[in-house]
Amino acid sequence: MGEQTLILVKPDGVQRGLIGEILRRFEAKGYTVQALKTVRATDELLARHYAEHVEKPFYPGMAEYMKSGIIVAAIIAGDRVVQAVRTLCGATDPTEAAPGTIRGDLGRSWENGVFNLVHSSDSPQAARREISIWFGDE
Ligand code: CDP
Ligand code: MG
Repeated sequence: MGEQTLILVKPDGVQRGLIGEILRRFEAKGYTVQALKTVRATDELLARHYAEHVEKPFYPGMAEYMKSGIIVAAIIAGDRVVQAVRTLCGATDPTEAAPGTIRGDLGRSWENGVFNLVHSSDSPQAARREISIWFGDE
């Protein structure tokens, strides 16, 4: 099966019609989409997913953003996929994200929050934890 990672196309990515463009980049790089679904985030799901951030000042606004529309959740698979997908997504701040990355090419900064199109797991351990959160009932 190889290594797996969890990606989310966040509500801004879905609303802008970028589901295909974002998934295309993972596929074009050579990785496999193993599972795919649309989901609406709940407070419970987000608090588990972003457990490391729940106490941070940006969390309430970020949770509202993540609940503002449909999310696409996917499991992407392949050798060293966790690191590769992080690289493809780019830095958290879209203004600082390098050209060629999803956030660098498709995102920009806005005054009312960080809207950066995509989430990806930051380690294989985080990927296992996050896959169980978003796909654990299947
Ligand atoms: O998503 P990534 O792992 O690159 O960044 P993070 O530092 O783990 O933060 C998780 C998410 O919280 C980011 O992707 C942003 O959506 C949000 N965030 C924010 O709204 N404001 C910040 N100052 C930092 C993060
Ligand atoms: Mg993170």
